[in-house]
Amino acid sequence: MSSKKLGSIVGGWLAPHPPHLVYGENPPQNEPKSRGGWENLRWAYEACRSKLNEQKPDVILVHSPHWQTVVGHHVLSVPRLDGLSVDPIFPHLFRYKFGMNVDCELANEIFLEGKSEGLTMKKMENPDFRVDYGTIVTLHMMNPNWDIPVVAISANNSPYFYDDHVAQNEMEALGHATRRAIEKTGRRAVLAASVTLSHLHFPKEPNQELPEDMTREHIFSQAQYEWDMKVIEMLKRGDIESYEKCLPQFMSETFAEVKAGSLTWMLAAMNKPKIPAKFHGYGTVIGTGNAVMEWDLAGSREANHV
Ligand SMILES: [Fe+2]
Repeated sequence: MSSKKLGSIVGGWLAPHPPHLVYGENPPQNEPKSRGGWENLRWAYEACRSKLNEQKPDVILVHSPHWQTVVGHHVLSVPRLDGLSVDPIFPHLFRYKFGMNVDCELANEIFLEGKSEGLTMKKMENPDFRVDYGTIVTLHMMNPNWDIPVVAISANNSPYFYDDHVAQNEMEALGHATRRAIEKTGRRAVLAASVTLSHLHFPKEPNQELPEDMTREHIFSQAQYEWDMKVIEMLKRGDIESYEKCLPQFMSETFAEVKAGSLTWMLAAMNKPKIPAKFHGYGTVIGTGNAVMEWDLAGSREANHV
């Protein structure tokens, strides 16, 4: 391994996973069919698709709140996984036949590096494992061709049991472990934090006959909208310090899904870059606030001739 070129993270994406995005796109893998909808978010992902086409990374790593593990952090570690993933909340929108190649060498290195950080780690080696819809929606929206290997990491649900600082420290340690694993294995990697921002939502679909009725789609509350804009502005400025300061309040007032730790993990893995995040789009899904944003680390290194 020492003869290998040091790997690096070429980019990171805030890449939310409402199943509605896949439903609105009507890919052949998804059984339910729609008349479209949520284009502002779906089209925001086009920037990601063309960037990945240019960058041709070796691997995409995704941290999803919907692969919840009670004990420790689990890493997908089966070379090939196929199956049908059904969203438990929206089975009428998302029944998706998935197939993915997993970068098991990198997964193993994350497992080892996580352990060396003192984290409880486990490799998920069940060949019949049904991958969660959060992981799948994010990966589909980023790369619908599925021609780039992936590594998926579970969300340990300690944020929901412990003090925010405990969860933050764990996720930062996992981020550092992930970065070292990428460097050691020589990968050019893209990261994805599969999370929505504000997460209060309507208790039921506003139009059950036509879920993609865009006349009924709007933010759950003005306060929630203002929070999302504040957070997006901080990330656009590259002001991660202010973002981290307001994070506990943001999470408690908007039930923000970032509480699952995905964005904390990604920012830590990227060494909390001070570069402005590129904003590609914002949209609501049954009232929740979602943004597609990019940290172009490779582009910024090139610009700085590093
Ligand atoms: Fe979610």
